[in-house]
Amino acid sequence: MTSKGDLILGIETSCDDTSLALVNEAGQVIAEKTVNQFEIHADYGGVFPELASRAHVHALQPTLREVLEAGGIEGPDLRAIGVTRGPGLIGSLLAGVNFAAGLAAGWNVPIYGVNHLRGHLRSVDLEEKRLEYPALVLLVSGGHSFLAFLKDQQTIELLGSTRDDSVGESYDKVARMMDLGFPGGPAVDKLAKTGTPQVRFPRPLKNEGFEFSFSGLKSAVARHLEQNPDADHADVCAAFVEAVIDVLMTKSRRALQAYPVNSFAIVGGVAASPQIREQAGKLAEAEGATLCLPPLKWAADNGAMIALAAWDYVNNGWEPTLETQTRIPISQI
Ligand code: KG4
Ligand code: ZN
Repeated sequence: MTSKGDLILGIETSCDDTSLALVNEAGQVIAEKTVNQFEIHADYGGVFPELASRAHVHALQPTLREVLEAGGIEGPDLRAIGVTRGPGLIGSLLAGVNFAAGLAAGWNVPIYGVNHLRGHLRSVDLEEKRLEYPALVLLVSGGHSFLAFLKDQQTIELLGSTRDDSVGESYDKVARMMDLGFPGGPAVDKLAKTGTPQVRFPRPLKNEGFEFSFSGLKSAVARHLEQNPDADHADVCAAFVEAVIDVLMTKSRRALQAYPVNSFAIVGGVAASPQIREQAGKLAEAEGATLCLPPLKWAADNGAMIALAAWDYVNNGWEPTLETQTRIPISQI
């Protein structure tokens, strides 16, 4: 039985998922609904921004109705609304923020614009509290890739991010080269498991610092496929995944050794990869940190992580700005 003020409604529309959720202060998800746009973007091999924002506008109202009904709560009884204000696609962000602002005014509840990246960080505490500070976070999504050191909830130091493609983007582009559909990550991952690496793809920047670069790896896969039209796609995927994981784990190890932490968290859509989860478990154990992963359901973009992040804004009295921004650094709330 939930009572007035127990729940925050999270609204996520920064990219191609319309996702709404009701979450309590302990991180339990009381109701959730995500409408994906895979079919809309399938022919383009990536997200078509204009179509994405229009699809959000259509999906928001019916999704809201379902979530409130499932949660057994009326809008005016919410503690607050949390909505992604960036980073993301501007049209998609505006669809969510405008919708949320209208609700907040109509229901007379506070509204908080949430940094999407903070949402991903908080996804590890959904359903159950897992993260202990200080923590190292590897964020690997379709839009971002970085390593960050979290001294506490508020002090986030960016160690290094990608100079070009994100990890998820490289999975999606490699998938496109082999006509594996969109989003490509899960398909590449699945096929990789049935193959064996026959070639060694480059590991850009592996031996230096904390920055990433994945476009060279993607080009190497493209060249290999061009030069070997009969190459076994499962083997190519296996070699690609091997290179990605080698880079991610080598850099994470370097960071874990430079910044001793209690928790090592991996978040973002790519954190759904079973291969990455397995390797990260071994690395965390060797380095004496506890591995924290979001439950599979909450690795990709979702409203629940935005709602949980909004609880931080409520509890810490952080400024509730609604300004939409296509780029916001993780260090900025
Ligand atoms: O976090 P997310 O849902 O969206 C962004 O904030 O960008 O991440 C989406 C990305 C896509 O690039 C998708 O291909 C990738 O996550 N992804 C995966 C897997 N599941 C999703 N990549 C590798 N293995 C997976 N199992
Ligand atoms: Zn995301």
